[in-house]
Amino acid sequence: MVGDVSDLDPASDPREEPASRGVPGQVPAVPAGQVHAPIPAVAHDDVIDDAIENPVFITEKLSVSYGTSPAVLDVSLRVPEKQITAFIGPSGCGKSTIIRCFNRMNDLIPAARVEGTVRYHGVDLYGNEIDSVQVRKRIGMVFQKPNPFPKSIYDNIAFGPKVLGMKGSMDQIVEQALRRASLWDDVKDRLKDNAFGMSGGQQQRLCIARALATNPDVLLMDEPCSALDPISTGRIEDLMHELKETVSIVIVTHNMQQAARVSDRTAFFIVDMGSSEEARIGRLVEYGPTSRIFTNPHDIRTEEYVSGKFG
Ligand SMILES: Nc1ncnc2c1ncn2[C@@H]1O[C@H](COP(=O)(O)OP(=O)(O)OP(=O)(O)O)[C@@H](O)[C@H]1O
Ligand SMILES: [Mg+2]
Repeated sequence: MVGDVSDLDPASDPREEPASRGVPGQVPAVPAGQVHAPIPAVAHDDVIDDAIENPVFITEKLSVSYGTSPAVLDVSLRVPEKQITAFIGPSGCGKSTIIRCFNRMNDLIPAARVEGTVRYHGVDLYGNEIDSVQVRKRIGMVFQKPNPFPKSIYDNIAFGPKVLGMKGSMDQIVEQALRRASLWDDVKDRLKDNAFGMSGGQQQRLCIARALATNPDVLLMDEPCSALDPISTGRIEDLMHELKETVSIVIVTHNMQQAARVSDRTAFFIVDMGSSEEARIGRLVEYGPTSRIFTNPHDIRTEEYVSGKFG
């Protein structure tokens, strides 16, 4: 099954067979050996410590350009399953560009050109037969600014499942997604109200619920709390801790304390200054367990960044 594009076809998805269903409301576990064979861990050097068994993503020499300008160069890393991976680094180092490669969001930017490979459970995400709609069903995304549709709370959640023709009671799908995003109790009596009537923090949890409604196994979060107050931020961080039981999470954050609090692993990127402003290129500098990145970084640039000396 390794590298089999049918992994992204719901008709042949072993996780949707009744026999493999887990607890209701949770993403069913990937049956061992059915979706992909174990991928052996390899540590490649001192600063890129990603000796991870069964990674959800493997990137190899991943580079992205916009038009003729390279934005990020040669990113090779492994993202673990059912953990939280943080991307940190100064503005413009390519964090959003790389996270967008994980669900092919860069396809929507005409100037973007992706080189190298991204494998998702062993499958080449950029393979010819891969359907990007199926990719985004499995790999959901939440953005910096909450972006609910101008629709009711209910319809925001029901939208994705309807488009994808998901089977089962829509009321149940909506309730389940709202419960998983810790939003059900806040909104159960006003499901038909417009989503714009919610607070910013609630709108962001609605966007998380909307992403969860299609039962993804990965959630990509690009600065999900940067527009939120500390209490709403705390609720999203608590939620991330609950969700990682069932979902692999990659989060971009500018908030060092947030990366240290929530993530299991951290990847630090920089903008490598070329000879001119136009030659600024993002690169991965260091990657490893968050506790080590923050307490014992191996690269001086990581040390300076995490200790607040630059960035
Ligand atoms: N749609 C786009 N078109 C052209 N260039 C882009 C586009 N998106 C990003 N870039 C360029 O790619 C580089 C990396 O940008 P990116 O947004 O990925 O950085 P970032 O690390 O997410 O920054 P920030 O922390 O400010 O969000 C930058 O030089 C940026 O100008
Ligand atoms: Mg960004």
